[in-house]
Amino acid sequence: MNVLQGRKIVLIVSGGVAAYKSAELVRLLVKAGVDVHVVLTAAGARFVTAVTFQALSGNAVWSDLWDPRMPNNMAHIDLTRDADAIMIAPASADLLAKLANGLADDLTTTLCLARDCPLIVAPAMNRQMWEHPATMRNMRVLRDDGVTVLGPDSGEQACGEVGLGRMLEAEHLFLRLEVFFGPKTLAGRKVVLTAGPTFEAIDPVRGITNSSSGKMGYALARACVIAGAEVVLVSGPTALPVPDGVCRLSVASALEMREAVASVVDGADVFIGVAAVADYRPDRSAEHKIKKSGEAMQLTLVPNPDILAEVAARPDAPFCVGFAAESRDLDHYAEGKRKNKGLDMVVGNLVREGLGLDDNLVVLYDRGGRHPLPRATKAELAHGIVAHLAGLLNAHSLTRS
Ligand code: CTP
Repeated sequence: MNVLQGRKIVLIVSGGVAAYKSAELVRLLVKAGVDVHVVLTAAGARFVTAVTFQALSGNAVWSDLWDPRMPNNMAHIDLTRDADAIMIAPASADLLAKLANGLADDLTTTLCLARDCPLIVAPAMNRQMWEHPATMRNMRVLRDDGVTVLGPDSGEQACGEVGLGRMLEAEHLFLRLEVFFGPKTLAGRKVVLTAGPTFEAIDPVRGITNSSSGKMGYALARACVIAGAEVVLVSGPTALPVPDGVCRLSVASALEMREAVASVVDGADVFIGVAAVADYRPDRSAEHKIKKSGEAMQLTLVPNPDILAEVAARPDAPFCVGFAAESRDLDHYAEGKRKNKGLDMVVGNLVREGLGLDDNLVVLYDRGGRHPLPRATKAELAHGIVAHLAGLLNAHSLTRS
């Protein structure tokens, strides 16, 4: 289940060009099962209309402290009752200054002062406004008051200047909210993962690879970030974007993947081998493109190192998780891989159940036996896998300490 599902969030949209990104944020939140109630300030309404947010959230949009639609005229209490958080995106310099000083002269500021839930702000303003000592001072005060600050980002701004002040993109804010509400089961832990296929070159333009999309590995990397871990993803060639909060090392061949893993695995608490590593590579890669001759051609393949088994065999081995994608006898092969490679856990699936699909059916294998997970999307499965491995890891650490 998504960590945001069933939450209630009051989203305050104040004046700034970035208000258009908040429309996308509402869409993402609603899709994740969040009950979103939008408060649009007068300045915010200069950039986007209440109709947009009403259509996207499915809820009434509020702007006025004295709105007669509000029963007993207690908007500041009623709106935040049961709310899991108030989020302000974009948060203008003016609104942040008011909040830092505890003002309550309109619906927005009154809501923030009368709340008993967390306040999360995503600042958005011109670079010079952000860097101004007054804004810096206000941000210090807000942080000291326990307000969570997301961003701002740096980059090209609407005014044409380049610098810090842009509001984070909607999908980044969404991930930060997932982290905020996430279980923190991997807080303080370092996780290294491999993902995607490998590419074993035959010559400069040809090679041997496989059809792994990398989606499962990337979904797991994201789930580990949400669980609070520092995440390094060693990825074979894929078209997937780097998940926010993940450090990605891009590689092509199994040998490169092995080298990249060796360079980052020291001190890792968890290693998850999700990559579909080619078991063999051509014994040599031709320097120049091989020309056809009309004759039969022979390719000699030599075995690649088993990256996961090597990590699991280290004296300081992290908690090791492998994947077993099989076409038959799943229990037999998955449990066999767990034992032969000396792994703490294996995620098994029958390939006909999930090849290239977003939905999948997997079974987890550990010393305690087999644990099937309900059919779910790869993103949801990733949370289930992380929850299970974090449970084992934390129990393991407890018995060792
Ligand atoms: N793996 C690895 N390095 C390899 C081969 C596999 O790190 N050279 C890892 C994979 O990332 C996966 C697990 O080992 O987590 C199992 O991979 P898989 O290809 O299913 O198993 P193999 O051990 O290669 O066995 P086979 O191909 O015979 O099923």
